[in-house]
Amino acid sequence: MPKIRILPKDIVVDVDSEQDLFAQLKEKGIHINSTCGGCASCARCTITVVEGEENLNEIPFEEKQLLGNVFHITKERLACQTKASGPITIDISMHEQPKKTSVVKRRKKEEVTKIISERIEKSKEKRKERPKKLGGSRKPRAFDYKDDKEFQDE
Ligand code: FES
Repeated sequence: MPKIRILPKDIVVDVDSEQDLFAQLKEKGIHINSTCGGCASCARCTITVVEGEENLNEIPFEEKQLLGNVFHITKERLACQTKASGPITIDISMHEQPKKTSVVKRRKKEEVTKIISERIEKSKEKRKERPKKLGGSRKPRAFDYKDDKEFQDE
């Protein structure tokens, strides 16, 4: 069983040379990004090969379609298409999940009531500053001249 050294956590795991790395790492609880589940269509499971590229299987057609023929430059392979026949070192730092560090700050009831009362006072002050409206905003009624005597005489 070939050994795989996984960076950046520096973990060493044994893998089966007949199975792809994606499935085996998933079994061992090591997270690798994927949306296709390992069928070579999403290209999210890329891993960087640091050492031992001679111990990897040949790049299959599906992988070449997704990543191109640039392994010799990028040293990236799809974990779902890669099988190791000997010891290798890979870097999966791009698959690290972000830690949830943001903490939701909850205010106390007194703070909330204080903030609300301040806002109410502010809005009252703004109302006082506004000039008073003269006249209503309704549309004036149409002038009815039928009942008016001046018009009837003519
Ligand atoms: S898991 Fe989607 S391409 Fe490898």
